[in-house]
Formats: sequence, structure tokens, C-alpha cells
Amino acid sequence: MTKLSVEKLSKEFPTPAEPLRVLTEVAFSLNSGENLSIVGPSGCGKSTLLHIIGTLDTPTAGTVELDGINPFALVPKELAAFRNEKIGFVFQEHYLLPQLSAIENVLVPCLARGRATSEQVDRAKLLLKNAGLTERENHRPHEMSGGERQRVAVARALILNPVLVLADEPTGNLDQDTAEQIGTLLIQMQKNESAMLICVTHSNELAQRFDNAKRLDHGKLMDSNSTATATGK
Ligand SMILES: Nc1ncnc2c1ncn2[C@@H]1O[C@H](COP(=O)(O)OP(=O)(O)O)[C@@H](O)[C@H]1O
Ligand SMILES: [Mg+2]
Repeated sequence: MTKLSVEKLSKEFPTPAEPLRVLTEVAFSLNSGENLSIVGPSGCGKSTLLHIIGTLDTPTAGTVELDGINPFALVPKELAAFRNEKIGFVFQEHYLLPQLSAIENVLVPCLARGRATSEQVDRAKLLLKNAGLTERENHRPHEMSGGERQRVAVARALILNPVLVLADEPTGNLDQDTAEQIGTLLIQMQKNESAMLICVTHSNELAQRFDNAKRLDHGKLMDSNSTATATGK
């Protein structure tokens, strides 16, 4: 079984004065097929945490282990391959390429290894079908609604069968109904694929839909129903 373990993860950013401490000894683990939401107000460190887990940034202290591998011990080329193979990202912005169709956008992660294979094209079609977008396969981003564009971004995150999907405010740019649909799609696709999913958001409504819900409070990760006082802080 694939596992993600995060242990005693801390992050400080240097500033001209004293370092800005954003994360303090964050720890949790997740198994394949499980999902987790992390909620907290703007500026509390959600993106920083997700970027470190996604190997886009490095921790000041602590460890991340994904599928038995410590990504921070890899050389840059290995790390890029590891990230491409194991991790899918969904951001608040869709980051689709405007000149490419929906299906071409879904296939972009395959290009890191050369051309997309015919199996990958079939998989892209299946993912777009599961996202309700069969009729939009050949549409370019400007020919789709915001919700449809984000559905394409979800399909793109899954194209290489990642073991871990990371979503940073995936519904932040959408109206309430569309946001609900994207939340449903993310969870449904993660379960279909038996991937792990971590979603960070300031939306309690979205966060509550996950199997496990935690929150970031002054840099510490807590169960969503506990208070800072109850944990002895
Ligand atoms: N590269 C950086 N350098 C310095 N400070 C940063 C950097 N990235 C984020 N921060 C600071 O860390 C804190 C947490 O930011 P962020 O993780 O983006 O929060 P959130 O995603 O919860 O809104 C903020 O105070 C932000 O200004
Ligand atoms: Mg953020």
C-alpha cells in the first residue's frame, strides 16, 4: 500500500528581521485511497505546506516520505521525474494552455517523457468522460466555462496515475454550485483511482466533505474540531 508520511515538518522564511515561522512540527500520514482536507484562514501556511509536500519547496526541518522515498534526497533531475510520476496538482487557477484543446491540455504531463502514447490518449478520453466533458474534448480553454476548465485541470492532474493528488483552493475562483461540483468530482476521481488526495482550502463547506479534516492554526496542524487550548498550546 502506498503511503505518505509527514513528520515534524517546519518551515521558516528568512526576513531582514527574524525568520518568519510558518509551519511548526506538522505531522500526519495518509494511505492510498484516503483523502484529507486542511482548512485555515488566508496566510496561515496552507500553500506553503502543500508546496513542500508536492516537492516544489523544501522544509526547514522535518521529513516527507512518499511511496518509501524521501524526495529531498533526490538530485534535481530525479526529483522532477519523481514529481511528474507520483504527484498531480490542482491549483486555484486552472493553468491550462490557451492554444491547446481540452484533451491536449490533459496530455501535457505526458510530454515530459516525449510523446503521449495511444494508451494515454485513451486514458485522457476516459478521464474527460468521467468529468462529463466528452463533448468538450476539442474545445480550447476560452470556449469553456470556468467550471469546465477546472474539470480539465482535474483530469490533467490524474493522467499519469499519480499516487498523490494535491489541491490548493481548487474551488476558490468558482461560484457555489460549480465549487460543489468540482469538490464532488475531485473526491469521486480520487476514490476511482485509489489515489491519496490532500485539499487545502479556506472553505469549511468544502473541507467537511473529506474523510479526514484537519486545520492549520498558528503553524500547527490539528484535528478540525480541537481548539488550541485543548491541545495544550
Ligand atoms: N517565499 C516566501 N517568502 C517569504 N514569505 C513567504 C513566502 N511564501 C509564503 N510566505 C509567507 O508565509 C505565510 C503563509 O503563506 P501561504 O502558505 O501562502 O498561506 P495560505 O496559502 O494559507 O494563504 C504568509 O505570511 C506569507 O506571506
Ligand atoms: Mg494559499
